[in-house]
Amino acid sequence: MYEKELFNMWADNYDNDVKLYEESSSYPFAGYKSNLNRIFNLVMKKKYSRVLDIGFGTAVLTSKLYENNHDITGIDFSERMLEIGQKKMPSASLYLSDFRKGITNKIKSRFDFVLLTYSIHHLSFTEKVKLLRELKNYLNEDGLIIIGDVLFETSSDLSKSKEKHSRIWDDEEFYIVIEELTEEISNDYQVSYHIETHCSGVVILRRLAQT
Ligand SMILES: C[S@@+](CC[C@H](N)C(=O)[O-])C[C@H]1O[C@@H](n2cnc3c(N)ncnc32)[C@H](O)[C@@H]1O
Repeated sequence: MYEKELFNMWADNYDNDVKLYEESSSYPFAGYKSNLNRIFNLVMKKKYSRVLDIGFGTAVLTSKLYENNHDITGIDFSERMLEIGQKKMPSASLYLSDFRKGITNKIKSRFDFVLLTYSIHHLSFTEKVKLLRELKNYLNEDGLIIIGDVLFETSSDLSKSKEKHSRIWDDEEFYIVIEELTEEISNDYQVSYHIETHCSGVVILRRLAQT
């Protein structure tokens, strides 16, 4: 089955499933709510902003920003997620598109925030780096990319978590290891981060002036 069909099937139960993992602080969604809250609070430091949400899903995060009058553009390849997102955010510009192929050319603007919550782990390391470099072209001068996801500070932290959760570990997801990502993109972005739980956190990328 195509990956996007899996998300179409999951869409109506997604919020509930995430809540169960989140409440028991279990991999993979331990810290989901605090991650999203942290990102919400960062964006809300601006009274108004243009936000691009990549893999917006059921729009848990962006619908709150939408309600607070931020301008929302989003990409997701699941038709059902798009229906749910558009219902919550009628005037948002939501596009059905596969971000593995880059950013759809229907999006021409630049953004104050590009958000990727629990979506970039669907890309391999090389694909992630390629997408993050492409996203430089979609950021305003002081724009930020903010990633909230399952992630680890070091590869050893990831290995320990993988061992601990070996029965339920998803080998088709590729989680960020901050030290590896930082090494690869340090010529493009200044990287800062916050570790939220044993398997989650937030990474903030600020484009370096000369790039
Ligand atoms: C785990 S959900 C996360 C949803 C939301 N951002 C959140 O924080 O709850 C991943 C989302 O990314 C979308 N997605 C995964 N791979 C994608 C791809 N290659 N192109 C576009 N959307 C993708 C899925 O359809 C799904 O809505």
